[in-house]
Amino acid sequence: MKRLIFLGPPGAGKGTQAKILSDTYHIPHISTGDILRAAVKEKTSLGQKAQGYMDRGELVPDDLILDLIKERLAQTDASQGWILDGFPRNVSQASFLEKLLTELDLAADDVLNLEVPDEILIERLLARKRKDDNEETIRRRLEIYHKDTVPVISFYSDRNILKVVKGDAPMESVTASLKKVIEQ
Ligand code: AP5
Repeated sequence: MKRLIFLGPPGAGKGTQAKILSDTYHIPHISTGDILRAAVKEKTSLGQKAQGYMDRGELVPDDLILDLIKERLAQTDASQGWILDGFPRNVSQASFLEKLLTELDLAADDVLNLEVPDEILIERLLARKRKDDNEETIRRRLEIYHKDTVPVISFYSDRNILKVVKGDAPMESVTASLKKVIEQ
């Protein structure tokens, strides 16, 4: 059983690697970005509220995200572990998750921080062409990452569960490095 959290800037490879490790460890991959994109596509009330923030590359307000995560972690398939990708995104989301897990008498096993230089991130995202992968929105996502998400790295290093993995390498080598740190 594994409870893993992926951190890293936009384009670091969180989603790519989380999908692979989800198969390896037979645990669900929970991506707040994927949940929000599905909600936008289905035009649900969440999707309608979230869309503008996502198009601008800004964080969707916590009040739209926190209950969503609480409900997702309570689903049956999450009882044997999970991989969180894209959450927590700021220190208040990290504190919320810590409190929620403490109430459930659980804790994350590892927080995996994928490090990739900004210029490579921009190159990867421009090549992908998702709706929010245009130059202006990418720059905004990177600014928000540095302002709001980088402090989450210290939050977890203070708790001694942070593991840093270089994400600027071929996909298979990144997967191998992640497995090595998870299994050590
Ligand atoms: P989200 O979907 O989380 O986007 P993101 O953080 O910007 O992450 P990306 O999907 O761009 O990057 P990734 O690290 O997953 O990389 P990937 O594997 O895809 O969030 C989108 C929006 O939703 C946010 O802006 C916000 O508005 C909202 N949101 C989401 N969660 C939220 C939250 N908790 N709170 C508030 N708002 C929230 O790879 C990228 C590309 O690189 C791919 O093409 C891939 O093939 C390629 N690639 C991957 N690895 C490699 C490699 N090793 N070598 C070469 N290419 C590679």
